[in-house]
Amino acid sequence: MSHKHAVRNAITSVVMAGSIATAAADETSIRLTEGPGLPQVQASCSMCHSLDYILMNSPFQDKAAWEKTVNKMVKVMGAPLTAEDIATVVGYLDSHYGKEPAPASP
Ligand code: HEC
Repeated sequence: MSHKHAVRNAITSVVMAGSIATAAADETSIRLTEGPGLPQVQASCSMCHSLDYILMNSPFQDKAAWEKTVNKMVKVMGAPLTAEDIATVVGYLDSHYGKEPAPASP
């Protein structure tokens, strides 16, 4: 995940905004599944990068991994979340974008 990539996404969004302006304006609200904690996620997780990052990581992150990611965003990246926000966001991510439990071995 490089900054180059983030910049490319930003450029793509700007280009797309020209053709489908109304859809682009709603991008953050239409992408993620509705549920408790979604407004918090949208407010806390879209200020530095696209919410796509959540979708990209969802196939392989279980609850512990989401906890780790969110804590990294707060401690390393400086995301302004309170302990309560962290719990809400992790709960949302685990319920909607958590990895499926591994199938029982045969
Ligand atoms: C203060 C800025 C900031 C905020 C707020 C923020 N992030 Fe990030 N996030 C980053 C940066 C910087 C990266 C690394 C980007 C890169 O390498 O291109 C990143 C990367 C990620 C990644 C990719 C995997 C990884 O660990 O690098 C995920 C998933 C992610 N963020 C999720 C979230 C979630 C969920 C939230 C809301 C709790 C959030 N981010 C809020 C700055 C932020």
